[in-house]
Amino acid sequence: MQSLLNKKIVLGISGGIAAYKSAELARMLMQEGASVQVVMTEAAQQFVTPVTMQALTGNPVYTSQWDSSITNNMAHIELSRAADAILVAPASADLMAKLSLGLADDLLSTLCLARDCPLLIAPAMNKQMWEHAATQRSAQRLLADKVALLGPASGVQACGEVGFGRMLEPAEITEQLIAFFQKKSLAGKRVLITAGPTFEAIDPVRGITNHSSGKMGFAIARAAVEAGAQVQLIAGPCGLSTPLEATGQINRTNVLSAKEMHAATLNASDYDIFFAVAAVADWGIAKPAKEKIKRQGKQAPSLEFTANPDILADVVKTVKTKGGKPYPYCVGFAAESTDLAKHAEEKRKRKGLPMIAGNIGPDTFGSDLNQLLIIDGSGSKKIAKAEKLDLARQLIQLVAKKI
Ligand code: C5P
Repeated sequence: MQSLLNKKIVLGISGGIAAYKSAELARMLMQEGASVQVVMTEAAQQFVTPVTMQALTGNPVYTSQWDSSITNNMAHIELSRAADAILVAPASADLMAKLSLGLADDLLSTLCLARDCPLLIAPAMNKQMWEHAATQRSAQRLLADKVALLGPASGVQACGEVGFGRMLEPAEITEQLIAFFQKKSLAGKRVLITAGPTFEAIDPVRGITNHSSGKMGFAIARAAVEAGAQVQLIAGPCGLSTPLEATGQINRTNVLSAKEMHAATLNASDYDIFFAVAAVADWGIAKPAKEKIKRQGKQAPSLEFTANPDILADVVKTVKTKGGKPYPYCVGFAAESTDLAKHAEEKRKRKGLPMIAGNIGPDTFGSDLNQLLIIDGSGSKKIAKAEKLDLARQLIQLVAKKI
């Protein structure tokens, strides 16, 4: 799935060492289906050449407002009118200061001032420059002018210092630009999600677990952030990176066992929607050994199980009514090997859920693809086979309509 299909992006590059990452950024935007038109400042060309950017994007690179090849010789007007968004990465302290004051003394700054499309900037500079009161003033003014700031991140800088000012990685900028274009149907809402498997220890080195990659739960977390929600993600052991982490809209708690997941989930309060996507182990080991159980010839140890708490059932017990609607709105998941529609509907009723999503087909584990059968009180709806992120976005829209 290409999330930026048919989007026209003007990629502005200003003078900073992070400009070397703009080449990869352009590639990533194009992989998502965007067409990329690069505009560079004079200083940017000290770090990366227009030839590089032209070769990667397949489009001529503009560097001057006096370029006679543009219709009417008005590059600053022409380029922004055709664009769905202008993305400046890296945005230097100098460029931020200029944009915040409405100065327009080269093609990129003039283009930003003359634009009639959204502007997103990814600041990149030394930490002292970022922390300087003047840059902070620029950032505040730009935010007040509805410019979206992507980052900066904290970390080791090209100058060797450590702190805020590093440009976000190209993958994070791409993720945030994609998010920017999604419908904000959950703006101001709070969403709680359990994802991945749980791990029930037998001893310090062994355990039992469920088949679950965590991909569906993480896709729902990403889609919820894209839709404008504040997300609490409670994740079992799955080794996936947190989506859209740099937005500050997502908070992740890692857990291991079902009991830990239960505690973390029941500890969360005040959320509008709960997605129980985790494949929680139904049983844990009654008395996990404190030390590794040694092999004793051919004799196998016998394990005693205890039932784990049903996290979703315990959340359902806390449901209240707000504005005539259940709060939180609980969505369960069902992975069945037979008779999905029947078992899922039974489960929905038994668990007292307004909605349940059934995984159709046996090939969903670990895959990027899935198909869902969504059942609520008014009937069922199939969401055709697609990437989990695509399904997650559709599910989020369905739930947004319900709350
Ligand atoms: O009962 P079953 O495990 O099939 O129900 C699946 C749904 O219940 C999923 O949404 C799953 O996340 C949730 N669940 C839970 N706690 C458990 C078992 C399942 O939250 N202990």
